Amino acid sequence: MEELIVRKIENGSVIDHIAAGKGLKVINILNLTPEETSVLLMNVPSKKLGRKDIVKVENRRLTSNEVNKISVIAPSATLNIIENGEVKDKRKVVLPNALENIIKCPNTNCITNSNEPMKTKFIVENREPVKIRCFYCEKVFNSEEFMI
Ligand code: CTP
Ligand code: ZN
Repeated sequence: MEELIVRKIENGSVIDHIAAGKGLKVINILNLTPEETSVLLMNVPSKKLGRKDIVKVENRRLTSNEVNKISVIAPSATLNIIENGEVKDKRKVVLPNALENIIKCPNTNCITNSNEPMKTKFIVENREPVKIRCFYCEKVFNSEEFMI
């Protein structure tokens, strides 16, 4: 189905099985430069998810920081590494048990959002649905609440 819409890439990364509607957030996480070529497919029919989004970026490998951010907003995503037109590596993103300095606390009153620069820390309390607790203000957030 997807092949009807967009061509395969030669080298780069394909982030597949993103829950429908989250693809734009994944694009934002990547902070693409004006030189980088990418494509966002939205609402692609999927056997597993019903509907999914897909992000393809040419000539780009994701950093572990980027993958961790993606795991917060799209925990069902699969990361495919493409080399010479072939899927060289395929792995599910993994939401870590704790997230240190990866995401900001959505609570504006949290000490981590005061003027003093400070690292953030979160504990993953539940994976499906995602529930993440701030170590500092102790509030619990779902994946939608994070501005990444
Ligand atoms: N892909 C691509 N360019 C390539 C190879 C693959 O853009 N040269 C894309 C495919 O279009 C797909 C994803 O990378 O969106 C994974 O490719 P593949 O493993 O071939 O697809 P599936 O078998 O459908 O993946 P899965 O089993 O993970 O659902
Ligand atoms: Zn907090």
